[in-house]
Amino acid sequence: MMPAGPSSALGQLLSRFGSEVIATSADVLAGISVDHRKLYPGRALALALPRSTSEVADILKFCNALRIPVVPQGGNTGYCAAGTPDDSGTQLVMSLRRMNRIRGVEPLNNSLVVEAGCILKEIQRAAESVDRYFPLSLGSEGSCTIGGNLSTNAGGVNVLRYGMTRDLTLGLEVVLADGRVISSLSALRKDNTGYDLRQWFIGAEGTLGVITAASLKLFPLPKRHGTAIVAVPSVKDAVELLAKLRAGSGDRVSSFELLPRAALELVERHLGARVDISASSHWCILCEVSSSDADDPIEERLASLLEAAMETGLITDALLAQSERERSAFWFIRENIPEAQRRDGPSVKHDVSLPIDRLAEFVDRASDWVVTHVPEGFLVCYGHVGDGNLHFNINQSGETAGKSLLAREPEIRRAIHDLVQEYRGSFSAEHGIGRHKVAELERYADPV
Ligand code: MLT
Ligand code: ZN
Repeated sequence: MMPAGPSSALGQLLSRFGSEVIATSADVLAGISVDHRKLYPGRALALALPRSTSEVADILKFCNALRIPVVPQGGNTGYCAAGTPDDSGTQLVMSLRRMNRIRGVEPLNNSLVVEAGCILKEIQRAAESVDRYFPLSLGSEGSCTIGGNLSTNAGGVNVLRYGMTRDLTLGLEVVLADGRVISSLSALRKDNTGYDLRQWFIGAEGTLGVITAASLKLFPLPKRHGTAIVAVPSVKDAVELLAKLRAGSGDRVSSFELLPRAALELVERHLGARVDISASSHWCILCEVSSSDADDPIEERLASLLEAAMETGLITDALLAQSERERSAFWFIRENIPEAQRRDGPSVKHDVSLPIDRLAEFVDRASDWVVTHVPEGFLVCYGHVGDGNLHFNINQSGETAGKSLLAREPEIRRAIHDLVQEYRGSFSAEHGIGRHKVAELERYADPV
């Protein structure tokens, strides 16, 4: 069947679903037509705002029959432009923001069922209200939605202990392109009745269906935390420190984040937040251990492990959070690195993962490459060391503001990703593919 022309497609959508569900105002469309980083400005046919699973099903079935392309969009906070339309003006963006109900919380089953439009922070709060923990946590948690988190298999700062979104999912409700609904919102931990269909939709970025609801895992709510920022002589030492902290804490390290000096300086310059840690070290780590036992002095355990690490030279300085306020101040710095980077100017981002035991070697080689080949940029390499995931980002350097770093992005990206490939790593650890990394997928994915 020939694709329907934009005006007739829009007319048919409006007459079938009405302006209550199909938004067309220029203001509304402007906000949903460009990705978070503003790298891919697009033009949407319209915005669909369904209120129920059956409405999603009706819209998809209708669009499928008319061959109208549909782009599902969550909170539009992603880094790879997976949720925004191209500039053809033919694609219908579908947001599930009206489907934001928590359908049920089952503390004894350690699970909850939420609709795809729920903001991540609201899900965390719902879990806390019954003394449980939903561990998915990322900088955009105040505005990203669980539908987007699921569709990109989001990671964040607690993956080390709790896994990625995929690992936190018990069941899904999904609408296929032809309008059929797969309803599998089970809260079972064990279910070996054949194929695990969930996994086809998690991380699929809406290419195989639209996730409308999910059954998610909950955990005991952490009651005590030990949180520290430590200076390490090298990335290799950081990796060794992680092993020591995991073993010495009863494997209760929940976060282990790499903070380079360059990132600390950016956050101080643009957001005024600073941390008083030895300026001589190029690398710092924000680490956190946590316990659900209110009587467990886990912060003391962390302090003694860090003391031992200091004696052997594995770390050169340490700041332990002495209060919840200090803990939040540490996390503020970590979570605002992307914002500080953005305020500083254009950047080229890489979201790579490596086998943890090769991480240090990769950082050395890739950093050398940047210093030699990218004089117009400076490296801001941070991320989730505990997961072998680095945001190997390069910012435009002020002194060479005349030369555009972004114009060199394809060439830089190629060199970094080829090196990642050499180490058997991934060019997309947690941000997905979207429109941003289609060429990478074609180059590096197994053709079979
Ligand atoms: C982060 O961990 O802060 C992000 O995933 C983002 C980034 O690449 O900047
Ligand atoms: Zn990240």
